[in-house]
Amino acid sequence: MRTDTPRAIRLKDYRPPAFLIDHVDLDVALEPARTRVRARLTVRPNPGAAADMEPLRLDGEHLELDLIRLDGKDLRLGTDYDISDVGLTIKAPPRGAFRLETVTYIDPDANKALQGLYRSRGVYCTQCEAQGYRRITYFVDRPDVLSTYRVRIEADVEQAPVLLSNGNPVERGTLDRGRRHYAIWHDPHPKPCYLFALVGGRFGSIASSFETMSGRKVDLGVYVEPGLEARAHWAMDSLKRAMRWDEQRFGREYDLDVFNIVAVSDFNLGAMENKGLNIFNDRLILASPDTATDMMFEAIESVVAHEYFHNWTGNRITCRDWFQLCLKEGLTVFRDQEFSGDERSATVQRITDVRQLRAHQFPEDAGPMAHPVRPSSYIEINNFYTATVYEKGAELVRMLRTLVGATAFRAGMDLYFTRHDGDAATIEQFLDCFALTSGRDLTQFMTWYEQAGTPQLVCSLAYDARARRAEFAVEQVLPPTPGETRKRPQHIPVKIGLVGPDGRDMPLRLDNGEAIDDGVIHVTRRRQHFTFTGLTARPVASLLRGFSAPVNLTIDRTDRDLEFLMANDSDLFNRWQAANSYATRTLVQIVAALKEGRRSSRGAAYARALGASIRDDKLEPAYRAELLKLPTQSDIAREIGRDVDTDHIHRAHRQLSRLVATTLAAELAQLYKSMSNKGAFSPDAKSAGRRALRNAVLTLLVQRGEPKDIALAVKHFESATNMTDEAHALFLLAAAGGRVRDAALERFYERWRHDHLVIDTWFAAQAISPQSDTVDRVRALTTHPLFSITTPNKVRALVGNFATMNPVQFNRPDGTGYQLVAEQVLAIDRFNPQVAARLLNCYRSWRALEPTRRRAARKALARVAAGPHLSRDVYEIVSRMLDT
Ligand code: PHE
Ligand code: ZN
Repeated sequence: MRTDTPRAIRLKDYRPPAFLIDHVDLDVALEPARTRVRARLTVRPNPGAAADMEPLRLDGEHLELDLIRLDGKDLRLGTDYDISDVGLTIKAPPRGAFRLETVTYIDPDANKALQGLYRSRGVYCTQCEAQGYRRITYFVDRPDVLSTYRVRIEADVEQAPVLLSNGNPVERGTLDRGRRHYAIWHDPHPKPCYLFALVGGRFGSIASSFETMSGRKVDLGVYVEPGLEARAHWAMDSLKRAMRWDEQRFGREYDLDVFNIVAVSDFNLGAMENKGLNIFNDRLILASPDTATDMMFEAIESVVAHEYFHNWTGNRITCRDWFQLCLKEGLTVFRDQEFSGDERSATVQRITDVRQLRAHQFPEDAGPMAHPVRPSSYIEINNFYTATVYEKGAELVRMLRTLVGATAFRAGMDLYFTRHDGDAATIEQFLDCFALTSGRDLTQFMTWYEQAGTPQLVCSLAYDARARRAEFAVEQVLPPTPGETRKRPQHIPVKIGLVGPDGRDMPLRLDNGEAIDDGVIHVTRRRQHFTFTGLTARPVASLLRGFSAPVNLTIDRTDRDLEFLMANDSDLFNRWQAANSYATRTLVQIVAALKEGRRSSRGAAYARALGASIRDDKLEPAYRAELLKLPTQSDIAREIGRDVDTDHIHRAHRQLSRLVATTLAAELAQLYKSMSNKGAFSPDAKSAGRRALRNAVLTLLVQRGEPKDIALAVKHFESATNMTDEAHALFLLAAAGGRVRDAALERFYERWRHDHLVIDTWFAAQAISPQSDTVDRVRALTTHPLFSITTPNKVRALVGNFATMNPVQFNRPDGTGYQLVAEQVLAIDRFNPQVAARLLNCYRSWRALEPTRRRAARKALARVAAGPHLSRDVYEIVSRMLDT
């Protein structure tokens, strides 16, 4: 257990920096265990702060200081400056501008936290967001200190033939009779140090170029492990499409002569938007049909776009402080979602984004780590790169567009870009732009950024046939979250439709005569009524069309109403939603029956309704695939909410899957055939949709468990011509257990053991198998020669997938699943707190479990809390989890 309680940082304590650093001159001599960093800083007191007489505090961690000079004069320890584990203080700096020079040594090889400068499979790379720069050199490490950079990198030619940094290349040359060399880069755009990056190593690369809207040529490069160049083309193609899209949709042009992307194997998260030099987790760059699934192609397209879009939303306009993280992340996720929707199917994109939000953000909002999209305090900022900041943050931007309308939204974005270019900005400044262009008061909307928790809308619709009216009543319930019990009502845009018996939308006219043309009603008070008039028949309500707000919604609806909406709703998102609600409701009923020891016969009507939907050829295959995916076991657990028994849920899920497969056997077999692969592989959305539908069908058929279904999965696996089909079948067979599992795993292993990315699928398939020996297998795999506890991708593939994608084995009532993950969290926390803390989040819903599992989970958490030297990261999460 930690003895010192780490201090919380608060938004209300924000003060401007006492000093500004206008320019940074870095000279880095790369050596595996002893890299020398010479920094020359141009410093001046901040005219916008009362800096008089203030000391200059520089952040710095894990640094060995060799020299410190101010305006050319050596400083004396104790007299002129003090030094600690977390930084360095210059006691009486000059009143005017001055130059500060330091030389420090760092050890990239020993850096397993993967923050600062480290080595990954022999290549040097950096990760500075949020606070990694302080592990490279002494600096004022906060996003509101912006500097231009000139960077000289020097390294062994053999070890690091490629040397990259931010901005434009200036010069290169050889040293030491050709044994060493150097490169100089210059970034003219002032940036906070978290956007600094440097790379050195052996790479293979592909090059291309892009002509911007004003006719400038930009050189593009994607750098990957030598030999894997052929797998970099999809990333390059995605980059060019993203660049064009940002010009067309947002009028944003790229602003340097080069844009480089580098893929590395050891990376804590997905990717990083360093100015002009994005660094990626290699799994989000490398793709070929035989090694990457359609899902990965899609993820690569979206993350490449996301990081590129940051160039304007994040880099040109950055965040004043880390509390404003959603200013760049929520907005950039919104932009990448729009991009993906335009490149693919907007409806399917919306469905997958909403699934994602509900699966990750809703439980966060309902658990111990609940925090507002703009948090007001944190212990460790790395714990706040969350689904709330990213995904809910994106929903807030989407709602903002709904509130102000598309035109004022675009004008507001333009204003934001011109007004704040070069700034470190705040959410208030962002919203102010839209208040101005729309003339709307956004004060109440701001509450979305300040209050945690998922609002609940309790709705009812009463139809009065004689008066031809329908009264829509809505109450917003704002559930309490840790530290926030009383909440202010929020401004919730609810997009609705009243669907008439003929399946057509009826006109929306309120009793005050107002016609609601955009279909959006504005819920702003705790309780509200809307009376719709002129309704010649009883309508069925289609609520929250397109998921117009990140809320939970309840309304009494019959199964017939849901079937009707599944078949008729003009809003395709809500058609899917009706199917999903119907399935969820059915599953919850089956679970309740299992709990009482009854057998439920529910599901046949749902299966028939589903059959009607998937027969509809007018619906694109990708959309029909979404219809066929039943709610996940976690979705059902979330819906049940308390006394959760994961075995019951698992059985209910199987039961309904089987029923659907049996009821629709003929249609499914027919679909499977008609969606089979034709011609050469193409990763485009349409072809991917056909594969998705075929694989969704296979998933259902395999649940029936008849020998012929298993044989079909085996054939699917063995005859697969792409990784999408191969991996999908592997997961199904690993889940089925028995001899087919062993054979498939062995075959896959032999085929892919030399591919460090593809083999993660082999770990994952075993980690998420619901078979009862999974805990033992996962434990054994942690000592497999291809597993490495210091590589985050391996930890996520094996332990992460087990903890989050295998509800039935992770939540074993004997607690062995919980214990296994707790041990891993403690082991990883010793060298990589960020990854350990993230893994720990798998326990966040432990209070919703039934008593036996709850006790076992608490025990595992208590064990983590008692760990000897907990990091701030793990400490913050585990203490919140155990807090009563
Ligand atoms: N800023 C990165 C993004 O694009 C995420 C990130 C944060 C990556 C911190 C690494 C470390 O979302
Ligand atoms: Zn981002």
